[in-house]
Amino acid sequence: MNFEEAKLKLEKYGQTHVLDYYDELAPEQKEALLTQIDETDLSVIRYAANPHGNQERGKISPLGAMEIPEIEKNRERFEKAGLEALRAGKIGAVLLAGGMGTRLGSDDPKCMYDIGITKPVYIMQRLIENMMDVVKESGRFIPLFIMTSDKNHDKTVRFMEEKNYFGYDKEMVRFFKQDMAPAVDYDSKVYMEARDRIATSPNGNGGWFKSMMSTGTLDRAKELGCEWLEIFAVDNVLQRIADPCFVGATLLSGCATGAKVVKKAAPDEKVGCLCLEDGKPSIVEYYDMTPELMEAKNEKGEPAYNFGVILNYLFREKDLERIVNDELPMHVVEKKIPYMDKDGKDVKPAEPNGYKFETLAVDLVRELETCLPYEVAREREFAPIKNKTGIDSVESARALCKLNGIEL
Ligand code: UTP
Repeated sequence: MNFEEAKLKLEKYGQTHVLDYYDELAPEQKEALLTQIDETDLSVIRYAANPHGNQERGKISPLGAMEIPEIEKNRERFEKAGLEALRAGKIGAVLLAGGMGTRLGSDDPKCMYDIGITKPVYIMQRLIENMMDVVKESGRFIPLFIMTSDKNHDKTVRFMEEKNYFGYDKEMVRFFKQDMAPAVDYDSKVYMEARDRIATSPNGNGGWFKSMMSTGTLDRAKELGCEWLEIFAVDNVLQRIADPCFVGATLLSGCATGAKVVKKAAPDEKVGCLCLEDGKPSIVEYYDMTPELMEAKNEKGEPAYNFGVILNYLFREKDLERIVNDELPMHVVEKKIPYMDKDGKDVKPAEPNGYKFETLAVDLVRELETCLPYEVAREREFAPIKNKTGIDSVESARALCKLNGIEL
């Protein structure tokens, strides 16, 4: 893209300030900026005008779950089916690690965070240790695909190399990068990160499958025989990944998706809640939970919207290919965005100062027709690390690790 074309594109989206320093830049910086302008999707900025009004919701009704007693009754059957699929190489694991982890406040990728007390125990190490249980049980390594972003890719790869993949078979691990989106202030103007760079951030975890496709990672998964892909978050240090019982239950259910869920700790807990929307599986986010939904009861007198999702889903690959071009809802998220101010100084804001644009993996569930909500015990499988202290923190995750006999 040349200067004139870049200017035209910026005019169209009201962002000509991006070129304010152009004349002062060295030739290679000019080139880099023009390339970034060319590659950045500025059309998403329109969503900032109405940050909370981008999704029209259908009629919400309750959706139960396969609960623990039922799972235990069928455990043997489920595990047998799951192990068969795992041994046949049909299951791939996809770690969503492209996020910025701003709440945790570390400059390194979240997977590098050390939660150890008496010895180093990195978040990534905990995830790999959990996967090794399945490797031992099934007798083979599960293909592992790790999504990173421009912001944390090099550090993540270097870390894994340095740590020798924590004993995982390196040949079974592939990294791929997700796309980025511009970040804007409250007047919908993109922030500049430097004189020659628009401030961008990862565009949410919803594009993981598209990015797997565009980077050729999906071809690799298919070569390895993967028919199902289990996505999981980087920050839940207790979660079981590709565990045979969950895999078997999902495959035998005939559903296109399996979603691990936990009983909510309280009706207003800040987790997305699995439900039906116009008769199809969907998730109602905690901020959309009305008092009526929170108070609704089922025929057993229990809360009707009682199961929270923990960002651990098993998807049938073929179904994802079918919906890959469907447009997902855009979430406009208020965040702290580092930027360069008018005097050229770097600013790291202490409070949110604008919006980022994200699509979310949960919204893929809505696109598919069927989903098996599969209950797991929260004290055994749900220890997310979002913050340093308090709820969903390093502290709470350490306590849960201790409860499960994990030495830190
Ligand atoms: P979070 O919602 O916790 O976002 O991501 P985050 O960016 O990591 O953290 P905060 O909000 O800035 O503190 C849930 C999961 O989705 C991944 C994260 O890495 C985490 O595993 N994710 C999030 C991506 O892979 N890409 C994204 O663009 C956003």
